[in-house]
Amino acid sequence: MSPVIVLVGPPGSGKSTVAGELATRLGVPHRDTDTAVETEAGRPISDIFVDSGEAHFRKLERAAVSAALQHDGVLSLGGGAILDPETRAELAGHFVVFLDVTLGEAAKRVGLGTSRPLLLGNVRTQMKNLMDARRPLYEEVAALVVSTDGRTPADVSDEILQKL
Ligand code: S3P
Repeated sequence: MSPVIVLVGPPGSGKSTVAGELATRLGVPHRDTDTAVETEAGRPISDIFVDSGEAHFRKLERAAVSAALQHDGVLSLGGGAILDPETRAELAGHFVVFLDVTLGEAAKRVGLGTSRPLLLGNVRTQMKNLMDARRPLYEEVAALVVSTDGRTPADVSDEILQKL
């Protein structure tokens, strides 16, 4: 079995919320790689970055993606998971949706009080750098690109289900 739908996109694009909505509507489980990593490590992602570094987090994330892809359901990936070439290769053959969002909207959703380690400092600048560098990778793995700007999770889910 393999996931029905995999959601990718930058932080603040709405992956977890939309994945939850889709899973409820389809009556399938929702898995999230950030949650899986935190459960496996027994500590929050921000602590993993501080104590063990980003490279260690990426290793845990790589394993979490592989494990989650063995199961049926809806899977939301951490925003940087697609940086790993093995992850990108494993996504081939799955229905991958890139949740697109403008910089302003993403920065607003993530907020100044973010606990995301890669966005500390100037959220808007860090976010722009991440989005510019990763856009080609999100586009590479995705079969469908859906904008989430100014839209409810229900509306975004409707569009995805119409194109499934
Ligand atoms: C990251 C995004 C986060 C989380 C970690 C790294 C990134 O997930 O995996 O902080 O590299 O963009 P979200 O996209 O769910 O915020």
